Amino acid sequence: MPGTIRLDYVSIFPEYFDVLNISLLGKAAEHGIVEVHSHDLRTWTHDRHRTVDDTPCGGGAGMVMKPDPWGEAFDELLGTEPDPDVHVVIPTPSGRPFRQQIAAGLSQAHRIVFCCGRYEGIDHRVIEYASRRWSVHELSLGDYVLNGGEVAALAITEAVVRLIPGVIGNPDSLTEESYSTGQEGLLEYPVYTRPVSWRGHQVPEVLMSGHHGRIAQWRHDRSVEITAERRPDLLEP
Ligand code: ADE
Repeated sequence: MPGTIRLDYVSIFPEYFDVLNISLLGKAAEHGIVEVHSHDLRTWTHDRHRTVDDTPCGGGAGMVMKPDPWGEAFDELLGTEPDPDVHVVIPTPSGRPFRQQIAAGLSQAHRIVFCCGRYEGIDHRVIEYASRRWSVHELSLGDYVLNGGEVAALAITEAVVRLIPGVIGNPDSLTEESYSTGQEGLLEYPVYTRPVSWRGHQVPEVLMSGHHGRIAQWRHDRSVEITAERRPDLLEP
């Protein structure tokens, strides 16, 4: 049995993380595989309005998250000592693209703190400060802008936690999908189940043939076809 992984979420909307108590993640928590703590960033403010943001230095639109509440959150959750085994994930559209390989790396961690920014982002000194102490990952889900890091943190969490041994019942489903979603660089082929005929649509005959070699070839061909159409970038050498 692997050790427990502790996940912390710091956000001005900590309720977002209530969903972690259901489904796959809830089961992982029940079995003691993951321990989840969410925190309201405003806990670490001291003014009457519990202010977490301010206008950007140098001008411009939007608001920037002040460094002080983040610093105090770190003090309380992680102390000030460096520890490269502590992972700090900061979802941001300007981060490195989040990929299966990064999920696999994080699934080996014992501690991950997710820092969820809102507005135009977090004062860059927070990232500098954290990078000197812990393993910081600024990650983007894709080329689009969400209102904040919360939904991205949830998506990253799901991708990471399902890779922890013991969380998914059938480990075959993990190795098999790596073939079709990254490692081999191809997208998944289409899948079917019974009935063989449904509303005038048929399951491809080859899949009912019992001929494993032809089935594997058909699936590979469909994968290449779909990848060429949707993600030609994955086929480039
Ligand atoms: N925060 C806002 N947009 C985001 C994105 N695309 N990925 C990760 N975090 C984000």
